[in-house]
Amino acid sequence: MKILIVGGGGREHALCWALRRDLPSADLFCAPGNPGTAPLANNLPIGSEDLDRITRAVQAHDIGLTVIGPEAPLARGLADRLRDAGRAVFGPTAAAAQIEASKAFAKEVLLSAGVPAAGSRTFVASELKMALAYVDRHAEPLVVKASGLAAGKGAIVCADREEARRALNAMLRDGAFGEAGQTVVVESFLEGEELSVLGITNGRDLIILPAAQDHKRLLDKDRGPNTGGMGAYSPVSFATPALLQRIKTEVMLPTLKEMARRGVSFSGLLYAGIIVDPSGTPNVIEFNCRFGDPETQAILPLVSKGLADALGAAARGE
Ligand code: AMP
Ligand code: GLY
Repeated sequence: MKILIVGGGGREHALCWALRRDLPSADLFCAPGNPGTAPLANNLPIGSEDLDRITRAVQAHDIGLTVIGPEAPLARGLADRLRDAGRAVFGPTAAAAQIEASKAFAKEVLLSAGVPAAGSRTFVASELKMALAYVDRHAEPLVVKASGLAAGKGAIVCADREEARRALNAMLRDGAFGEAGQTVVVESFLEGEELSVLGITNGRDLIILPAAQDHKRLLDKDRGPNTGGMGAYSPVSFATPALLQRIKTEVMLPTLKEMARRGVSFSGLLYAGIIVDPSGTPNVIEFNCRFGDPETQAILPLVSKGLADALGAAARGE
């Protein structure tokens, strides 16, 4: 068995560690990997966004399964490229990766699937005036989000309308976040506990992993701007089996069904960022199309053997 893990962070180290534990004699490769993955896998000096060289390496090493860690190569079509070359891949197509790469698209899917989520409106750059007027009528606090990929830093929680106006001007008028901020989602702020729920899926069914919480604000005591994630822990005391089952049946499965209905079936790792509101309803605030970072580092040590089998089965659509 030859497996390639694409990426070079702590998440990919955790994946190498869990796969090595599952498959002591497998040939593991990591591109580019890091000093932590070096004792577990053969690090290949190829950047995770170098689609051509990764595709060539998969052929040259006759890799049987590629597991893609970060969102950027997924959004750029690495899984499509490898599947076209006849290789099994754990990770969605570029079209399905839009569930993370376009928050505007994710909102449409949530709405059509009837999944609970914060009320929102989407605006493009030419609609700045309309967006500012919408904010003027919106209750405080509120959240302004760059629709595209922004390394976890594109959601601005705004205490008041003035802050929201600044965020809108920065994104739509001044080009903060570049192309990713040329479409914005303005969303109601949801009160409640956050939860990261990760599911391994073949596009139809889903295995939920132990839930995690990550802390995203830069500074102590929940202050400062959002980061991609400062740390994580798992399990989470309030994520009871009943709540996780509810998230599976009311959030994740309807989302997969809606994706399939749109002809963009999602296989790989579906990550739902959830806020459980005071009534106990799990609301989606974002989807990711990949393992969370740093959640994976906290979750995989709790997953007993079988990760390699599950990733392989999902990749083959089984
Ligand atoms: P996102 O990039 O959408 O995951 O947002 C980053 C962080 O912003 C989340 O982890 C939350 O802490 C916060 N956030 C995003 N959307 C909302 C919302 N609608 N209500 C409250 N907090 C939010
Ligand atoms: N920790 C949040 C993320 O992986 O997007």
